[in-house]
Amino acid sequence: MVIKPMIRNNICINSHPIGCERVVKRQIAYVKKRFVEHSEDSEKQKPEYMPKLALVIGCSTGYGLASRIAAAFGYGAVTIGLSLEKPASETKAGTPGFYNNRAVDKYAAEAGLVSSTLNCDAFADETKAQTIRAVRDAAAKAGIAPQIDLVIYSLASPVRTDPKTGVMHRSAIKPIGGSFTGKTIDMMTGNIVTARAESATEEERAATVKVMGGEDWELWIDALENENMLAPSARTVAYTYIGPELSWAIYKNGTIGAAKKDLERACTAINRGFHEKNGVETKKRAFISVNKALVTRASAVIPIIPFYVSCLFKVMKDKGLHEGCIEQIVRLYRERLYTPEAAIDPGKTPVDEAGRIRIDDLEMRDDVQKETHALMETITEENIWSDTDVIGFKHDFLEAHGFGVEGIDYDADAPLI
Ligand SMILES: NC(=O)c1ccc[n+]([C@@H]2O[C@H](COP(=O)([O-])OP(=O)(O)OC[C@H]3O[C@@H](n4cnc5c(N)ncnc54)[C@H](O)[C@@H]3O)[C@@H](O)[C@H]2O)c1
Repeated sequence: MVIKPMIRNNICINSHPIGCERVVKRQIAYVKKRFVEHSEDSEKQKPEYMPKLALVIGCSTGYGLASRIAAAFGYGAVTIGLSLEKPASETKAGTPGFYNNRAVDKYAAEAGLVSSTLNCDAFADETKAQTIRAVRDAAAKAGIAPQIDLVIYSLASPVRTDPKTGVMHRSAIKPIGGSFTGKTIDMMTGNIVTARAESATEEERAATVKVMGGEDWELWIDALENENMLAPSARTVAYTYIGPELSWAIYKNGTIGAAKKDLERACTAINRGFHEKNGVETKKRAFISVNKALVTRASAVIPIIPFYVSCLFKVMKDKGLHEGCIEQIVRLYRERLYTPEAAIDPGKTPVDEAGRIRIDDLEMRDDVQKETHALMETITEENIWSDTDVIGFKHDFLEAHGFGVEGIDYDADAPLI
């Protein structure tokens, strides 16, 4: 079938199997190159302290996909990934994550790496039990102990069914305590649209915290600790975003920010639990990593973000500072979590004053922020294509669905399965 992108309101409802696979292949090549190029300092990073078994919750797209690829192809780790994706059928393409997962498993097998992928609801109790069985099986296959060194928590979900109550909660992206009006871009036309979001109700705030907050991360860590599945120096990392003040009304101070605040609460609680269960000397550690704003399926629908990101990318590319998901995660692993010092002692992990890992440091640099803001002030529909990187935004968005990938003939038939 010839597959062309079907996009409305910055949402793409289909994907290209060959394109998705090619993007995964490119990320793998980048990881391998970075780890080989820097093999001298890799030698300083003692192999016994590198992750051998990684669990990635939300592994199929965006930051989770990059986290899995970097663990597998950078450190040679056994990876267990789980995500919720729609498989392809004879007549309908699957979601991009379905094809990405398939490609990761294929290239891992070719490289002699053990990988196992589960398609299930991360929030459900039975998923946790199923994952624990999958970790044991994968470890046995690889001939290593079923001890997880790294747990990445990278979910972006609109809904969560609470496993205790059976109630389904729905998240909302809304401001709190007043409405928000901000510019956004229709990336297909370049039209600048004013998006308005009404103030969230208390129920909407609480529901968003239920879905995107830290409760489920804590349940995961409890389930793994109860089964003694965490290695003595296991790390677990959940991702967040802070961003510039101009987005705070809708992000940091809005419903999603309330959920991210709860993720930070959970991080402290998980670390307290590690100490209580394993003694104060424990090397198990939970971290929040603040990542850069990027174009993923989740971020394209947040008002102001497409406009801000199009200007930010222009500034960062001009300065040679631009990074995508895979560049961010390679930096997270090599320059934060697994530096020779931090790998041995988690207390040596570079963090900010609040204990968070910052890989949004380049985005938040003073000069980058000042120039991005100044650029945003000058943008109209007349100069948007020439003066911002809306083309880069659109390209990354299409690529996240397997479209616009170099070297692929989009007029040729592509097999759906
Ligand atoms: N995109 C950004 O700009 C950005 C910046 C900083 C931090 N983050 C954070 O990174 C994390 C990942 O975001 P992303 O942009 O990579 O999102 P994404 O949409 O690309 O990925 C979300 C993942 O969650 C999985 N998922 C969703 N619901 C699930 C469920 N019920 N069960 C199992 N899997 C489920 C999806 O299958 C997918 O693998 C989020 O916490 C987000 O806030 C994103």
